Amino acid sequence: MCGIVGYIGAGKTTEVLLDSLGRLEYRGYDSAGIALVCEDGLEVIKSAERIVKLREKVPSTLYASVGIGHTRWATHGKPSKTNAHPHQDCSGRIAVVHNGIIENYQEIKRALEKRGHVFTSETDTEVISHLVEENYVDNTLRAILATVPKLQGSFAFALINKDDPGHIYAARKDSPLVIGLGEGQYFLASDVTAFLKYTKRAVFMEDGDIAILSKDGVTFTDFHGREIKRKERVIEWDLEAAEKAGYDHFMLKEIHEQPKSLKDVISGRLNELSGEVELGEIGLTQDEINGIRRVIIVACGTSYHAGLVGKYALEMLTDIPVTVEIGSEFRYSSSRVGPGTLIVALSQSGETADTAASVREAIKKGAHVVAITNTVGSTIARDAGNTIYMRSGPEIGVAATKTFTSQVTVMYMMAIFLGRRRGMITAEKARILLSELKSLPKYAQSVLDQDSNVANVARLYAKANLFLFVGRHLNYPIALEGALKLKEISYIFSEGFAAGELKHGPLALLTTGVPVVAIATRSPTYEKMTSNIKEIKARDASVIAVASESDESIAQLVDVVIRVPDASELISPVLSSIVLQLFAYHVAVCAGCPVDKPRNLAKSVTVE
Ligand code: M6R
Repeated sequence: MCGIVGYIGAGKTTEVLLDSLGRLEYRGYDSAGIALVCEDGLEVIKSAERIVKLREKVPSTLYASVGIGHTRWATHGKPSKTNAHPHQDCSGRIAVVHNGIIENYQEIKRALEKRGHVFTSETDTEVISHLVEENYVDNTLRAILATVPKLQGSFAFALINKDDPGHIYAARKDSPLVIGLGEGQYFLASDVTAFLKYTKRAVFMEDGDIAILSKDGVTFTDFHGREIKRKERVIEWDLEAAEKAGYDHFMLKEIHEQPKSLKDVISGRLNELSGEVELGEIGLTQDEINGIRRVIIVACGTSYHAGLVGKYALEMLTDIPVTVEIGSEFRYSSSRVGPGTLIVALSQSGETADTAASVREAIKKGAHVVAITNTVGSTIARDAGNTIYMRSGPEIGVAATKTFTSQVTVMYMMAIFLGRRRGMITAEKARILLSELKSLPKYAQSVLDQDSNVANVARLYAKANLFLFVGRHLNYPIALEGALKLKEISYIFSEGFAAGELKHGPLALLTTGVPVVAIATRSPTYEKMTSNIKEIKARDASVIAVASESDESIAQLVDVVIRVPDASELISPVLSSIVLQLFAYHVAVCAGCPVDKPRNLAKSVTVE
């Protein structure tokens, strides 16, 4: 997804901008560019290739103390150098980088063209440069203030003006922007990873903010030009945490970080003595908890799968009906939401446009919204008001791994919390569940210790061109997630099914050797799963079973077994999901795929 950077200070501006853009590569992009205020005016350099190529185009002698940069992920107009940001006005005085979508850009563009403006790109962004140009007399801020009310949709933009060389201006509406505070130097980015190397002090812009960066500091106004104050925060992630730490890929590093991320997510939240989960972040009084009539979990992609696991857990431990909805569907069909509805918005990034829109929609309709996200200060966290942070640390690989298992863990904690508060589970039962949750990091580690076994299995099947994943009950969403993981990073067609659905269609896909990954750990549906495995074997397909350590009989039914520790019904799906992450990773490596940055995908999907 698009990334914005900006720098003002005495440092090497081009170096800082290019380095910061490199830190945003993980978001996915198709082109990149920078604009600098130089002695002779604005210098704009773009490339429709990777950032290394952009770097080659930047003369080493180029001096500037102010600049902005961008990585683009095409939404309006194809990926090309012309459509790459920054975009300029007719006079070449102004340069703009933008994330988001200006929904009324065609209308604005037509009007501007009638008034003589000449556009050079197909982007929606370019209207911002021309509008500011039109509104500019001698004060850039005033021109921006006159421009923003005309823009419909979402935007985060940064702007420089050659006639106002000492400033960067930035505006935010529904798309993230954060300022980095250094000593005599200031940074701007769509996420803190871009400038963490230089400073940990940050200010998150709010919707409706304009930031004015100069060498002397940063000031903020609202869209009416009234001065406002914003709080500084210290970011706890360091850059090292965002680097690979010796692993070949971020994804593998992140998979192996799960014992820690699982420990962090439960830390301080489980009280084994009282059998209570401390989740005050939910923001509900006891009366409100009693009044919950339904829970709707809203999410996309992997987060949606975590939501499905959450549904089973909530229904096992509470008396509340739960539905799970895909963000892009829910945002247009939320009429059943109202008082008594608890909306749980799951989003690792906290910036997924469809989930964010669903949250806004639900709030409008009077629902109580709780966000579960990994990103402090993200749009969804701030809009929801009530946020449970996953504390997973940065996840750079496009494929979600450690954030999935943390999301599931938060859903479990929420289910225990609500179950206790509504009197549906006893303190004794809760204590057992909490001690199981506490054992999760240790179990996760023993799954990871078998990484090389999983790699061997992956190598056996890496040449297949179709994979099926099957599971039942809590393991059904784990099958869906296993299939998503494999397809997104290895490009092999894979699909997940509820095992009971096989005979309603998917069995037709099975022929000799087609690999089927069956999650067959010990659980109340174990016997049913083994029947399904027999059905699959009767079609001569190959079965790779994920099974419990103590299950001696399964080996006779299947081709290959990958073991997970014997664990409870809630815990073992998390362990199986780690096996499937490793499996997908090793298949993708065998296939020579760019694991961390799969084609056509972005880490953070901030457009609809
Ligand atoms: O940031 P979010 O959790 O809201 O992201 C939702 C999906 O875009 C994301 O989970 C996506 O499916 C992952 N790349 C899958 O690995």
